[in-house]
Amino acid sequence: MEEFLDFLGDIPWWTWVLIFLALVAVRDIFFQKAHTISHNYPVVGHLRYWLESIGPEMRQYFVANNREELPFNRIERSWIYASAKKENNYEGFGTDRDIYKHQHLFIKNAMIGFQVPEKHPNIEHPYFVPCAKVMGAHNKRRKPYRPASIINVSAMSFGSLSAAAIESLNKGVEKCGAYHNTGEGGLSPYHKQGGDVIFHFGTGYFGVRSRDGGFSMDKLKVLVDENPCVKAIEIKLSQGAKPGKGGVLPGSKITHELAEIRGVEVGKDVISPPTHKAFSTIPELMDFIESIAEETGLPVGIKGAIGKIDQWQELADIMKKTGKGPDFITIDGGEGGTGAAPPSFADHVSLPWTYGFSSVYKIFLDHGLTDRIVFIGSGKLGFPGKAAMAFAMGVDCINVAREAMMSIGCIQAQVCHTNRCPAGVATQNKWRQSGINVPLKSDRLAQYFNTFKKEFLEITHAAGYEHPCQFHMEDIQVNVDDDYLSSDIRRVYKYQKEKVPFTSMQDLYNCEHLGGKKTT
Ligand SMILES: Cc1cc2nc3c(=O)[nH]c(=O)nc-3n(C[C@H](O)[C@H](O)[C@H](O)COP(=O)(O)O)c2cc1C
Repeated sequence: MEEFLDFLGDIPWWTWVLIFLALVAVRDIFFQKAHTISHNYPVVGHLRYWLESIGPEMRQYFVANNREELPFNRIERSWIYASAKKENNYEGFGTDRDIYKHQHLFIKNAMIGFQVPEKHPNIEHPYFVPCAKVMGAHNKRRKPYRPASIINVSAMSFGSLSAAAIESLNKGVEKCGAYHNTGEGGLSPYHKQGGDVIFHFGTGYFGVRSRDGGFSMDKLKVLVDENPCVKAIEIKLSQGAKPGKGGVLPGSKITHELAEIRGVEVGKDVISPPTHKAFSTIPELMDFIESIAEETGLPVGIKGAIGKIDQWQELADIMKKTGKGPDFITIDGGEGGTGAAPPSFADHVSLPWTYGFSSVYKIFLDHGLTDRIVFIGSGKLGFPGKAAMAFAMGVDCINVAREAMMSIGCIQAQVCHTNRCPAGVATQNKWRQSGINVPLKSDRLAQYFNTFKKEFLEITHAAGYEHPCQFHMEDIQVNVDDDYLSSDIRRVYKYQKEKVPFTSMQDLYNCEHLGGKKTT
């Protein structure tokens, strides 16, 4: 035996390497049948698969220029990271963008900007920018709600995001007075860390699901009664990344915790159908909204990505006739994110945000209904310049999903659908999420939101206004057709936004329905 071990020990290291490569070659040629490249080019064929697998990272770190990547380019990501860490988020030497390029936006500054008077709420609270409208005010809901921040966390479920990520987001929104939308996975303990919550559900009715997979009003009532942090309810009709796409949650992923939160059975596949069981027509949707608002007392809204507009027209007709309807409408853009979607849906189904929002807002404008509704926009709007455009077009608040993820450490690895998120944000893997330092990350979300609000307020003041709701369509110009033509967006989208009845920031500060904390 000793002699044999001595013999092995005498073999030089490079012979071992050759033996290993020979074994790989034998396997490639004779035993594996799945990969033609490995069969035809044994051993070296593996290089191709390896290079392909690290290609995205190589391009991101070494090849792509600052403005090239999608969904978010390096400049955008760096601005969020620096804002979240309270680092220097300025750039030097002037813009690196071609400002004559098609679709480039301009915000028109005033000759003399808005001068913040002494004793103005923003002197003591520089990040105080609440929503200028109250959700549920028109419909006289029992518990109206004024979001205390114009930027908020968009729908992302516990399930698509980790427990540590959800907890960081919720503690973060509490620190900056924003709200946290639960996403379709139900209300988890991680959503109940002090922040205002919008409870959101889709066709799976997770958290408010009856035994047969339908909607349970009794469960919703209990949920609302037991959780005063829930300030409003959002019914998801569709989302930009995958409108009309149902989903399957495989039984293998359904742990005891997830089953309890979502109201489903452990280990059993759960199907979310593409459409709702609780309603199938617009009048039925209207009744559904009213019954939820009646039973819970909370404002009720809908979320949708926009394609055809005939049913939005029908909704507006009925709202006009009955004087009732949703208290808020969230319009998601086709550029919106998701935990997982087929590329054909993400790339092609539903309109980009500006086209979708403008076509729906116009309908409500024509019906004289815009003052009744809080309009919320989502779809890469988490940057002050783009938010100014969205406010000029008619939104009252914006929701951010991926930008919020980045503020707590997401590196845009784009592997949310694999459970292998390297940053621990979009995974259920315990080890990966254990790297998330919740108190630190919650500060980062709050710092990103506060920096956003401060910079947006500065832009607002530069344009001569006190509050972003005062932006109108002629304040924003966009390059159209080719590099040499630019037009204000009223002419591009062919409507003028309805004036929001804003009085003063002080009145918003004194509002009895203001959510969040007044110290923001
Ligand atoms: C990980 C992840 C999970 C999401 N889950 C939901 C969801 O449960 N319901 C929903 O309506 N939208 C969901 N969305 C869409 C976002 O709420 C948002 O509408 C969209 O990403 C656009 O915002 P953004 O550009 O700021 O990311 C999800 C997005 C992401 C990235």
